[in-house]
Amino acid sequence: MKVLVFGSLNIDHVYKVDHFVQPGETLSSDDLQLFCGGKGMNQSIAFSRSGADTWHAGAVGNSDCEMLIQGLKEADVHTELIQKKEASSGHAIIQKTPEGENSIILFGGANQMITEENADSVLSHFTKGDYIVLQNEISQIPYIMERAHQIGMRIVLNPSPMNEKIFEMPLKFVDFLILNELEGAALSGLPDGTHEEILGRLMEKFPDAQIVLTLGREGSIYGYKREKYYQSVYPVKTVDTTAAGDTFTGFFMGSIIRGKSVEESLRIASKASAIAVSRNGAGASIPTLEEAGMHIF
Ligand code: RIB
Repeated sequence: MKVLVFGSLNIDHVYKVDHFVQPGETLSSDDLQLFCGGKGMNQSIAFSRSGADTWHAGAVGNSDCEMLIQGLKEADVHTELIQKKEASSGHAIIQKTPEGENSIILFGGANQMITEENADSVLSHFTKGDYIVLQNEISQIPYIMERAHQIGMRIVLNPSPMNEKIFEMPLKFVDFLILNELEGAALSGLPDGTHEEILGRLMEKFPDAQIVLTLGREGSIYGYKREKYYQSVYPVKTVDTTAAGDTFTGFFMGSIIRGKSVEESLRIASKASAIAVSRNGAGASIPTLEEAGMHIF
């Protein structure tokens, strides 16, 4: 059984700032760092580091992709299915405050040039029972979901970033839905709902999906049929929250796929994302399974 993460690859430009730039303001930064990122790539690294045999598919620019491909290879992710386009790779402009909070502008670049033919060619390598993991940073997601469903793949969706494109996706095919509270509020149609109300409504709307709602410092909750579990966060000094959600998704699903219980998978995911938050960068901050297991909080 294989894991395919079909998602974005971005070069993250991370600027250290005192505060997020305000309308009309010109803000200087004296610290710029480049990291591998993109929700897809971060999740591929997290899946692989959690112990899953992971393939990444997506698209990059042919002249600026070296660090992205290399970053995935270093994390033991298979890269043969990545397409190279006559375009720039995707990039993100990330402002990072001293509290470790971020604000992100995305430029899709090659991520938005995936075609139906590309999707068919990638999916021809997978079969019934394999997992496909999707976010919302590449083109053709509705088509990819339809095809993956026809093949009989198990579909994991992290509907991030949340925008109108999510509502064009065939969400009834989703087996695992992993989302944060803002995404949950939008998808449930309960903008002012409590966590419990949002989870409850999502469980009604998507009765066949196992759902994990991540709540930042308040932990995470899982719901499916009659089961519900809560997991708190592990205390760390926040350095950079970028990719915390991606780390959680990769380690939660990676653990489920390795046969761990939901409660154990939530615990491992929570530990791994706490470690990611205590480090700089996106892909670079994601721990190995061994580190997550041995870390004393
Ligand atoms: O989830 C974090 C990621 O979002 C960053 O790495 C950035 O590239 C954006 O895709």
